[in-house]
Amino acid sequence: MRAWHLTLPLERGGPAPLAAQIARGLAGRIRSGALRPGARLPSSRLLARMLEVHRNTALAAYAELAAEGWITTHRARGTFVSRELPVVATRRLAPGPRPPAPRAHFELPPAPDPRAALPPPGTLQLLGGVPDPRLVPVAALARAYRRALRRAEHLSYGDPQGHPRLRAALSALLGEARGLAVAPEGILVTRGAQMALALAARALLPPGAAVAVEALGYRAAWEALRLAGARLVPVPLDERGLDVEELARRVRAERIRAVYLTPHHQYPTTVALAPGRRLALLELARRERLLVLEDDYDNEFHYQGRPLAPLASSDAGASVLYVGTLSKVLAPGLRIGFLAGAPDAIARATAHRYFLDRQGDLALEAAVAELLEEGEAQRHVWRTRRVYLGRRQALAAALRGALEGALSFREPPGGMALWCRVEGSLSADLWAGRALAAGVAVQPGRLFAFDGRARPWLRLGFGRHDEREIREAVRRLAGAMPPRSGSSRR
Ligand SMILES: Cc1ncc(COP(=O)(O)O)c(C=O)c1O
Repeated sequence: MRAWHLTLPLERGGPAPLAAQIARGLAGRIRSGALRPGARLPSSRLLARMLEVHRNTALAAYAELAAEGWITTHRARGTFVSRELPVVATRRLAPGPRPPAPRAHFELPPAPDPRAALPPPGTLQLLGGVPDPRLVPVAALARAYRRALRRAEHLSYGDPQGHPRLRAALSALLGEARGLAVAPEGILVTRGAQMALALAARALLPPGAAVAVEALGYRAAWEALRLAGARLVPVPLDERGLDVEELARRVRAERIRAVYLTPHHQYPTTVALAPGRRLALLELARRERLLVLEDDYDNEFHYQGRPLAPLASSDAGASVLYVGTLSKVLAPGLRIGFLAGAPDAIARATAHRYFLDRQGDLALEAAVAELLEEGEAQRHVWRTRRVYLGRRQALAAALRGALEGALSFREPPGGMALWCRVEGSLSADLWAGRALAAGVAVQPGRLFAFDGRARPWLRLGFGRHDEREIREAVRRLAGAMPPRSGSSRR
């Protein structure tokens, strides 16, 4: 047992000898499942110290348990709970997995299931927007992290707004790469874009506020907004992005306070918000005092021409809060994202961050700042951009070769996924289900639909796997194509 301490209620000076009390106490723990078959128990010396009894008392308790078959002792390896428990125990304790924990006795509110999104291990993942963790500059990151860990202040309480060095590095990066003039005081470092959205919603919107979202969009953001108490209002979009005229009508009719959108590579359709609509949205926000939550999640991966500037870069009215992430630049598992915008709004979000999570991993933040300051992160993006472009071409070629006619798509200028139209007589949902059974995870249009209805689209990501794996994934996808139906299933 590697526990810090073992406590058993002992009645000292009571009628039952201490050794017997200890033996009964431990047998009870084994019977209840708290101590599992095969679990290591403390040495008799340590047990005696933990329970403040004489060593001989501990030895006597163990001898009694061993005689009854509850525990086994190997001279060299130590003392363990028996893998074959006595009959009296096995009658009450089913062998195998731990008995289920009792269900909560209090009333539980409904909650979305975050695990539903994870495919089984070993599945090839053509999932939109998942970068390849094998490409991460691990050695450079590890060196920087090691250096950061040596500084005591990184292991203590620190700035809840994020390490000042990282905020300064992000401020410089946003200026250079996104034309965004935001000072370090206007940046809050968060654990991913996910936390940035959750904090913005909690800190800046009253409970029950109406928030407009793209009718085809990013469910994880919707759930964060909902869990913060927002009421979501879906607004349609087309090949020019969000329908801003329709948004304007809804703003008035439904007292909308905020809009969440992905204007650069719209998620999931990959289209860009048209220039006229961008200006109209900023003007609407200024006039109606809307909060615009701009999720700029994968602008770094743009292959043709320059990436479009974010809305925030031409937001004279300070309506936009920019949500950024290093999940694509470095790795999603690092959980580094940020919120950037008007310092008074950022201060509100920082207060919420403080009482929710106190602060981030300051050593990691300092390490990532170092990679940004030295240009390592930027070089990594340059290198991987070429890799991802190659993968996009590999995916497009494999799809054209194996699924011409069944899937049609336009290669988007950026991002990490293709948005593919599924031919009318094929069900995207059925196809995705069969593909998963064949070992490749893809996302059908329904997953992105606010109304939860089927859509004739598949989103196919090309970030996670190399070109050989992508071809294998497409082979599996083609093999899993469902039979065509007479009626068109949408
Ligand atoms: C639309 C969108 N926003 C944000 C993110 C990044 O989220 P996070 O920074 O929480 O990893 C993703 C990742 O898939 C995304 O698709």
